Amino acid sequence: MALTNFLIEGGAPLKGDIQVSGSKNSALPILCASLLIDGPLTLRNVPDLEDVRFLLEILRLLGVESVRNQDGSLSMEVKDTTQTVADYDVVRKMRASVCVLGPLTARRKQAKVSLPGGCVIGVRPIDLHIKGLSALGAVMQEEGGYVIADGSNLRGGRVYLGGAYGSTVTGTANILMAATLAKGITIIEAAACEPEVLDLANFLNRCGAKITGAGSPRIVVEGVERLTGRDYTIIPDRIEAGTFLIAGAMMHSPIRVRGAELDHLAAFIDAFEHAGARVTVDPDGALVPHLDKLVATDITTLPYPGYPTDLQAQMMAMLTLADGISVLTEKIYPDRFLHIMELNRLGGHIRKEGPTAIVQGVKGLSGAPVMASDLRASAALVLAGLAASGKTEVLRIYHVDRGYEKIEEKLNAIGARIKRVEA
Ligand code: EPU
Repeated sequence: MALTNFLIEGGAPLKGDIQVSGSKNSALPILCASLLIDGPLTLRNVPDLEDVRFLLEILRLLGVESVRNQDGSLSMEVKDTTQTVADYDVVRKMRASVCVLGPLTARRKQAKVSLPGGCVIGVRPIDLHIKGLSALGAVMQEEGGYVIADGSNLRGGRVYLGGAYGSTVTGTANILMAATLAKGITIIEAAACEPEVLDLANFLNRCGAKITGAGSPRIVVEGVERLTGRDYTIIPDRIEAGTFLIAGAMMHSPIRVRGAELDHLAAFIDAFEHAGARVTVDPDGALVPHLDKLVATDITTLPYPGYPTDLQAQMMAMLTLADGISVLTEKIYPDRFLHIMELNRLGGHIRKEGPTAIVQGVKGLSGAPVMASDLRASAALVLAGLAASGKTEVLRIYHVDRGYEKIEEKLNAIGARIKRVEA
């Protein structure tokens, strides 16, 4: 893969409308759910991202055909059910591919999926996924770096999914997907409440599943014989929406963020307001950020409906410019702070103390070369680069391409000056 960087000329004012794409973290498990489904299905609002393209390739290897239609929708259908293995090479590159585990176990009765290992944002085990599938009667084994599941005797069960850092989003998705085809009733306690879990449940119900309570900590699933392909539209990406709102506030710019779902942004907007910013809703539903004066605020990331970890880095970029000292605490990934060093290279004044970042606001940032380390950290560096004086080069922006659809095109269309350059 050619290494690509962003060259950002800071300080350009933003103005105009920016559209939010479909949610990455909804799309990925829903794409995996295709493994459960008989007959063709069509998904709308699936973002065109590296992670999506990569997952479609994994699904192709597992016998799922997919095609992007002219109108942008994605048609999918299972054509071959013989494959049951997801290799280390695949899962290592994208953790969300672990979401094939539940569907393969339920539909093909066998799965061999590589243990994903850690990544730059933390350890990220899958013990809760394994516990959940075991509670549904799957025989789970770990061998040679793989988790091997035998789902021959899958049936409904009761499982508690709370862990040291709260529930698990993709773990809830895995158990939910397996339970749809497991005979009897499954009760998931301490389920993740993220809108992406609700979206998955809505999609599965559209295809004939019997799921109630999704979006709450208690999900009940009555197993059905089969699921049938239908049309479904993925929810908007709340993290992308929050990232754009921060861009507008940092640049004191009157932008309009279109297509976002306000209901999914409550904790973000609360924190935004504490930092001296506001969001108003235009008559056509567009969200408009406003800022009088940035002030320091304290934020703790928590499972939904708490403040999302996926917007921690971007909010930190904004708070580098706030008046006073902000304290940002990570309760989901205590080590998700690689962006601190890079934000400091741009003139930020941030110190890490355990799972907490202490941000002393500065008057301004100045451009420098910085290194993207993970998806959300990269977005934070792009935001900081927009606000900094002079030129910022963000190295390794393939991270940002994994989860933001055409981010530089979208931002340039509202006035940013971002160039994609070969390293
Ligand atoms: N955890 C366990 N055991 C498990 C599973 C998780 O201890 O079996 C821990 C994790 O280590 C972490 C916490 O529980 O400390 C929450 O992890 P979770 O399983 O909820 O994360 P995930 O499902 O792997 C999804 C998103 C992440 C997002 C997290 C938290 C997808 C594809 N990924 O990951 O998104 O940060 O939930 O909201 O949905 C991103 O988009 O940049 C991203 C990393």
